[in-house]
Amino acid sequence: MEKQRDGFVSSVGAFTATVASAVGLGNIWKFPYLAGVNGGAAFVLTYLLAVALVGLPILVAEHAIGRKMRKDAVGSYAAVVPQEGFWVVIGYAGIVAAFFIMAFYSDVAGWVFSYIYKSLVAALTGTGPLDGKAFESMVRGSGEPLLWQIGVLIFVSFIVVAGVSKGIERATKLTMPVLLGLLLLCDIRALTLPGAFKGVEFLFAPDFSKLSGAVILSALGLAFFKLSLGMGTMTTYGSYMPHSVRIVPNATRVALADTLVSLLAGLAIFPAVFAFGFEPASGPSLLFISIPAVFSKMPLGTLFTVLFFLLSALAATGAMISLIEVPVAWLSGKMNVKRSAAVLITALGILVLGVPATLSLGPWAQVKLFNMVIFDLLDYIQQNLLLPLGGLAIAIVAGWRVVASDLIQELEIAEKGKKCYIYAVYGFIKYISPALIVLVFLNGFGIFSK
Ligand code: PHE
Repeated sequence: MEKQRDGFVSSVGAFTATVASAVGLGNIWKFPYLAGVNGGAAFVLTYLLAVALVGLPILVAEHAIGRKMRKDAVGSYAAVVPQEGFWVVIGYAGIVAAFFIMAFYSDVAGWVFSYIYKSLVAALTGTGPLDGKAFESMVRGSGEPLLWQIGVLIFVSFIVVAGVSKGIERATKLTMPVLLGLLLLCDIRALTLPGAFKGVEFLFAPDFSKLSGAVILSALGLAFFKLSLGMGTMTTYGSYMPHSVRIVPNATRVALADTLVSLLAGLAIFPAVFAFGFEPASGPSLLFISIPAVFSKMPLGTLFTVLFFLLSALAATGAMISLIEVPVAWLSGKMNVKRSAAVLITALGILVLGVPATLSLGPWAQVKLFNMVIFDLLDYIQQNLLLPLGGLAIAIVAGWRVVASDLIQELEIAEKGKKCYIYAVYGFIKYISPALIVLVFLNGFGIFSK
């Protein structure tokens, strides 16, 4: 049975591939920008709580269901509770979420890839560091960001066609440690800039008056987005996991590693933002303005900038591989489409949403729905609706519909003896995480106000 499906060959490989899905633009682009927009430390703290109390338990639930079912997300949820086929909606909603996310993610990834090239040119020609103006003029255009976005999709498609263990495991094992090293270097430089401490305070000294229902919901949504939860990615990855993986410790390490990368990115960016007098709430441009500025204060700075964006591009690639894998696994597993055709269909589908998302930051900026441009709308829907609701449904299935002993048995595989943390996590999956999601959700939409 296990031989028939391609999968991760070792538990180390399963860990690195899972980290590779989790770590991405969410850490280096989205986390800092949301922390900036939402006022800093109080948001950061809420996000950390959301990771621990909701994200980690749901990550465990997804891995357990995936590995138990050994199917893609749609197949897993269709069959996980015999006689209750309707849970398949989790799988389908996940496919929708994958397209929504990829639409804007491939755009941002395109900016990152273009920054490799631009900083290389800057390094070679000796022009100054890339500044806010350079960023704006790229993003507001149409031809340039679209070309990069399409290039990114072609690049990722090739890797995904290569297959699971060969493509994903190999591509990601090497790059993560290097990215971590470079972030640390960036941190050291940023933290030693004059005035850097204000940035540390901004990140870690909470002002709870900055919290609101909407801010808390956004932090919860970020925790889902960060750990690639609520949409079947981690269920699919669970299905590739060998029985040598101890699910709870593995998921805990993944959540810790991922959160560490976010915090290191924050520590590279905010001290610099305050030292250079940038606007912390400047939004999606934050990463692209602050990082080149930090490196410009180092010897060989432009080369480090090239390297930084190169590694960020690889991190984004790992995340995109896992996003694309959701529809691809479904098309090739259940629908019997050839893998290469499945990737092609998926990539074209992404462009249908992705091109408008990209244009909505430039020539189509007038087109607004609910007062948001298309790029922001897609992001809002996935982060504040699709992922938290998907996560809630997964917690309900895993905690209330799957037979408890079956789920616990899956978590006990490869463990030596009974482990109390397994029961603790199960309690979270069943009671605490879903209750928190419901509360945050209702509160986020203002049900408790007045
Ligand atoms: N976790 C990824 C990141 O932070 C994004 C992602 C979301 C990937 C959902 C897969 C599924 O960049």
